[in-house]
Amino acid sequence: MAKKTKKRPGSSTGLVRVTKQKAIDGLPGPDGVRIRYALPEEADKVTSLLKTAVGDLETGHLEALAEGQCGMWLLEGLSGARLVEPLVRAAAADDMKSAAAAMSLPLVAQDRDGHLVGALLAVPSGAVISTITQLPGHEQHALLSILKYAKIKAVAVSEDAHGRGIGAALLKRCVQVYWQLDYMLLFGGFEAARDLGPYYTRQGFTVLRPGQTIDVGTLLAGVPIQLGAGPGETLFHRWRGRVR
Ligand SMILES: CC(C)(COP(=O)(O)OP(=O)(O)OC[C@H]1O[C@@H](n2cnc3c(N)ncnc32)[C@H](O)[C@@H]1OP(=O)(O)O)[C@@H](O)C(=O)NCCC(=O)NCCS
Repeated sequence: MAKKTKKRPGSSTGLVRVTKQKAIDGLPGPDGVRIRYALPEEADKVTSLLKTAVGDLETGHLEALAEGQCGMWLLEGLSGARLVEPLVRAAAADDMKSAAAAMSLPLVAQDRDGHLVGALLAVPSGAVISTITQLPGHEQHALLSILKYAKIKAVAVSEDAHGRGIGAALLKRCVQVYWQLDYMLLFGGFEAARDLGPYYTRQGFTVLRPGQTIDVGTLLAGVPIQLGAGPGETLFHRWRGRVR
């Protein structure tokens, strides 16, 4: 009788599994580009790239990148470490700022000459955390949201490298890492004027119409919590296991 093998998270994508080492060394993207974890000394370049995507980019996580803290727990997660334990310890020590940085994902695209030509930053969603925290008796669900939901804060490719599939490759790796780590939802927003709806749709995300919302509460806390775009913003999202 054929032996049944348990399907591992992320294996349905048909992609190479991202190990901690592969995330550091980089995985191949288009045109000889490698997609890898950003290094602390690249924080300034990453910040200037991401500022082309988000005018009012908060720089807290990028300061953490310069200090070698950004994304460190997710990296350990790729080695099989349980992320819930450091998270609970951080909550007990009232140090959620460092925890949020350590649970972020800073990716860069490096071309074959060694230049950084793109960057992506995904983070735990402050809006989701604070909304869930305000629900009486649901503090632990706010922590759970950090383990299950991530916000793609910004993705940017330098102008001279546009149109070579680098943005798509950064998004693809981001999705792959989170699905491997058992996340359930990735979402993000862009300034509506950028008109990136067709772009994110092509990358496998659902783009919300103005006024439309998604329920991010029922899955985590059994209470509906509607998440929608801020003023002048368009929201895109993708649940694990659903393409759109
Ligand atoms: C959006 C962005 C990241 C795309 O990166 P990229 O590497 O050029 O994108 P890809 O090569 O993966 O895809 C290119 C395709 O997207 C299309 N595209 C790029 N910007 C677009 C836009 N604003 N609207 C619709 N399509 C767009 C291109 O026309 C191209 O189409 P084609 O494949 O049919 O030729 C890049 O244009 C960028 O850095 N823009 C400035 C920052 C930004 O707006 N970031 C997103 C908000 S967080």
